[in-house]
Amino acid sequence: MCGIFGYCSFLQEKDRKTVCDILVNGLARQEYRGYDSAGIGIDGDKPGEMYFFKEVGKVAGLRKKIAESDVDTSKTFISQVSIAHTRWATHGPPSVVNCHPLKSDPDAHFIVVHNGIVTNAVALRLVLQKRGYKFESETDTEAAAILTKYIYDSQTGKKPTFTELVKQVLHELEGSFAFVFKSSHYPNEVVTARRGSPLLIGVKTEKKLKVDFVDVEFAGPESDAKSNSALAPPTSPSGLLAPPSNPGMLRSQSRAFMSEDGLPQPIEFFIASDAAAIIEHTKRVLYLEDDDIAHISGGELHIHRLRRNEEGGAPQAQHRTIETLEIELAEIMKGKFDHFMQKEIYEQPESVVNTMRGRVNFDQARITLGGLRAYLNIIRRGRRIVFCACGTSYHSAIATRAIFEELTEIPVSVELASDFLDRKTPIFRDDVCVFVSQSGETADTILALRYCLERGALCVGVVNTVGSTISRETHCGVHINAGPEIGVASTKAYTSQYIALLMVALQLSEDRISLTERRNQIIQGLHALPGQIKRVLDGDKGFQELATGVLANQRSLLLMGRGYQYATCLEGALKIKEISYMHSEGILAGELKHGPLALIDENMPVIIVMTQDSLYPKVQSAYAQITARKAAPIIICNEEDEGIPKGCQTIRVPSTVDCLQGLLNIIPLQLLSYHLAVKNGFDVDFPRNLAKSVTTE
Ligand code: G6P
Repeated sequence: MCGIFGYCSFLQEKDRKTVCDILVNGLARQEYRGYDSAGIGIDGDKPGEMYFFKEVGKVAGLRKKIAESDVDTSKTFISQVSIAHTRWATHGPPSVVNCHPLKSDPDAHFIVVHNGIVTNAVALRLVLQKRGYKFESETDTEAAAILTKYIYDSQTGKKPTFTELVKQVLHELEGSFAFVFKSSHYPNEVVTARRGSPLLIGVKTEKKLKVDFVDVEFAGPESDAKSNSALAPPTSPSGLLAPPSNPGMLRSQSRAFMSEDGLPQPIEFFIASDAAAIIEHTKRVLYLEDDDIAHISGGELHIHRLRRNEEGGAPQAQHRTIETLEIELAEIMKGKFDHFMQKEIYEQPESVVNTMRGRVNFDQARITLGGLRAYLNIIRRGRRIVFCACGTSYHSAIATRAIFEELTEIPVSVELASDFLDRKTPIFRDDVCVFVSQSGETADTILALRYCLERGALCVGVVNTVGSTISRETHCGVHINAGPEIGVASTKAYTSQYIALLMVALQLSEDRISLTERRNQIIQGLHALPGQIKRVLDGDKGFQELATGVLANQRSLLLMGRGYQYATCLEGALKIKEISYMHSEGILAGELKHGPLALIDENMPVIIVMTQDSLYPKVQSAYAQITARKAAPIIICNEEDEGIPKGCQTIRVPSTVDCLQGLLNIIPLQLLSYHLAVKNGFDVDFPRNLAKSVTTE
């Protein structure tokens, strides 16, 4: 959801074409996040001048627009700063005017790209309009751009540094966001800050960095005074007309960037919302924390804090580590597949192995989750476990709830993060709250996490993205190691989350002798799983035929199952609706008589999940009820099941342990949804109105 990209080159000759290509590629790599327009802001021909390119629709359209423009693409820059953005409309429809970068004024003294939402933008807009400022767009971002100019212009005497200025701006903004600011007043400088939305900075140098961290520069207490409001009346002594603050700024040097001889060295910085946009340039990255302000200027990166440590808060880290990313570019490329979603579905035999790698000892039937080891006893003593997640991640929690309860004998509840917050659910110190998220950046899940942290619960993360907010802010957790997932419709993350949660349950139960046999049976099932997933994938042609045959041109599709397979139905229906735009509902077969049966007749397409577990007889009775009403369901059943009535359309899957069967049953549904979308010519990887990472509430 919205993607930020910034590029700063210092003492490296770059022509304008190269700069534009880097920006547009950076945006293209973040397309999967979801967006509806894209734009860039680059240096113009004259000092202080800026050029903008903006386009509604795909990044490819923006690329074309730049290629067709008559700007001099051969102009070179020794140093330059440029910013880019993919926008997912929240305030105002997708349009060129609402597209970022947003300007502070027609001369673009300040330009801004922004993710997230400024919740007090309406109030700011009114105040600024009263002071004579004109707005062009409907966005909340423009209020931040204009506010920056207002604060700058209002300061008489010595002007603030770019960081000081942005700090004052941020003090006025409410909400959660990530920003990058560029200004003609501060050529070749850029300031970027985050509160709630992810941001990372890639560093590329020819010489090795002197140290692999950047010191955090803490400001003196006076700079934190919120009362020093930028919007106080201009005559107010404490307002903007006061001299720029921060004489107490503790300037430490950016040790990482000092060269041996003290001379500045050529360097490039890449700012992005996602590591996927950076790794083709460098693997050395630094993740910003909430309330960090990063200032890039003169080939150095400085990190400041928006405010000092709140009293009683946890001590703040004195530096930010420059980490080395382990993902390869190939991992985020489509390779031989037509779509990322297809590639990710086909990756599952390997991604599930990666989730288990180094954690499951099949010979000794033991699970070892390093990230949880120190917390196992606290979790076992917890009075309940609360899972909290959104979308597919929520379904993975539903899928594993029963086995969690069986193995741990601790009551488990599963919460949709938004509803959990709406209800202000009571949470206590002896609760264990598990936050499941592919991206680790979903706004509702993060807010739920912070809510639980405040109430003293033990917070556990089950996350795919290393370095993400949820993985950093939880007390402990498990990375699912599924590799980057680009397709908006989550597939391999689901199966990996499912296995990760199962491994947590298995490890928690290792002290229960009475469950040894059950555990061994599940672990053996896990061992066979990758091969079985491959077998299901081999049947893809059949799923394609269903999508182009009986299910083609249908308006609705009901999915029914019970027990472990309820989650399969919910997740299958979600896949179908999100990418093929067909109405689809996952129905608990036990609830059939309480409503859904009214929908059933010979025209209603139904898939019923009837794999063999202890609930098989009950699902058979649901089958009887719907066929009695002339439905002709497609049956997902086990390969060797001979009890299926002759002449029925079936999807046959290998059989495994009851609590693992959902991992196999979901694959045909993932592929079915994929083929339905392809058949209708829909944009599989970027479904309309949806985003990969939902970073706003
Ligand atoms: C969005 C995505 C879904 C995802 C959900 C939760 O809706 O489109 O695929 O399941 O967010 O995201 P998370 O990253 O927290 O798992």
